[in-house]
Amino acid sequence: MTKPDGPVPGPGILDIAPYVGGDAKLEGFEKPIRLASNESALGPSPKAVAAFRALAGEIHRYPDGSADELRRALGAHYHLDPAQIVCGAGSDELIALLQRAYAGPDTEVLYSRHGFLMYPIGALAVGATPVAVPEHDLTADVDAILARVTPRTRIVFIANPNNPTGTYLSSNEMARLHDGLPRDVLLVIDAAYAEFVNRNDYEPGIKLVDKADNVVMLRTFSKIFALAGLRLGWGYFPLPVAEVLNRVRGPFNVSAAALAAGLAALEDTESLEKARAHNDRWQPWLNDRMAALGLHPTPSVGNFVLPGFPEGKHNADAAFRFLQGKGILTRKMGGYGLPDRIRITIGTGAENEKVAAALAEFMAS
Ligand SMILES: Cc1ncc(COP(=O)(O)O)c(C=O)c1O
Repeated sequence: MTKPDGPVPGPGILDIAPYVGGDAKLEGFEKPIRLASNESALGPSPKAVAAFRALAGEIHRYPDGSADELRRALGAHYHLDPAQIVCGAGSDELIALLQRAYAGPDTEVLYSRHGFLMYPIGALAVGATPVAVPEHDLTADVDAILARVTPRTRIVFIANPNNPTGTYLSSNEMARLHDGLPRDVLLVIDAAYAEFVNRNDYEPGIKLVDKADNVVMLRTFSKIFALAGLRLGWGYFPLPVAEVLNRVRGPFNVSAAALAAGLAALEDTESLEKARAHNDRWQPWLNDRMAALGLHPTPSVGNFVLPGFPEGKHNADAAFRFLQGKGILTRKMGGYGLPDRIRITIGTGAENEKVAAALAEFMAS
């Protein structure tokens, strides 16, 4: 084989199909209704905005690279040891750091077939082989995952609840998955949407992390805390894993703005409860509307719904374009292997009513 002239990236990197985020702009609409990225319907806490503004005169300073105050606040809020918490520039960064630290060439990273795309992308970026495990009823399948573990498996990623399906594993099912894994395989429970879940049999992963040295839980400030633009995530890790991440992360990986706004958002329990109540009201409302239109949505417990469309005139692509024509941005799901579905984030009350009415019009057309 001839050696190429220029620099050559590591194995796997050129196999990555770059992540395509949800649309934010729509020609012909100055302010489209943005339901494409599972962002917050209500916007950030006013206290977080004030903390962000207050920082303006200090941006020549480096942030606190240890995120000390935020980790202590998270520790107090969730009753966790701050030494076991590591913050990241979004949970995306923590997903990538875990792969860098624990996967690599000749290893496999497992994820469920319709799981969050950053898992296979992160695996390829470190030269590992991403392995998509089939789901049943658009839900992660514990037995299928366990059956796919090999001596090369290093990490199993489960988003719980999962994006884009919105389905979840009960704490018993998650414990069964963990019980079946070899001790040298890391189970990553990505609980980005945990705060939206109102089911008694759900647990975000803290209890498993407390019991085992091969389980981690990831969280984000991008969803219910409404700080997606600042990039702030965190995770709860067994101490040895936290110490590994503190070795491989950048020294100032979280910005001062993210730290300040995150701290204020965490303390603003009123905004959090408002956001939760809003989702509790509107998510089932929109799901019911989708069901009434015959679009068999998944039983999502996140801040989004995933209706499915028939083949032919009323297919998912046509629905996506019809909504665009009304100034409404949603997300196509072909990249997730679900070309017959679109994902719709819960918006304000008026936005939800508009998208439901537009889809009713589409189906009647
Ligand atoms: C399951 C899941 N994990 C992680 C993320 C990334 O979140 P962050 O904004 O914290 O990087 C998302 C964002 O959509 C997500 O859906």
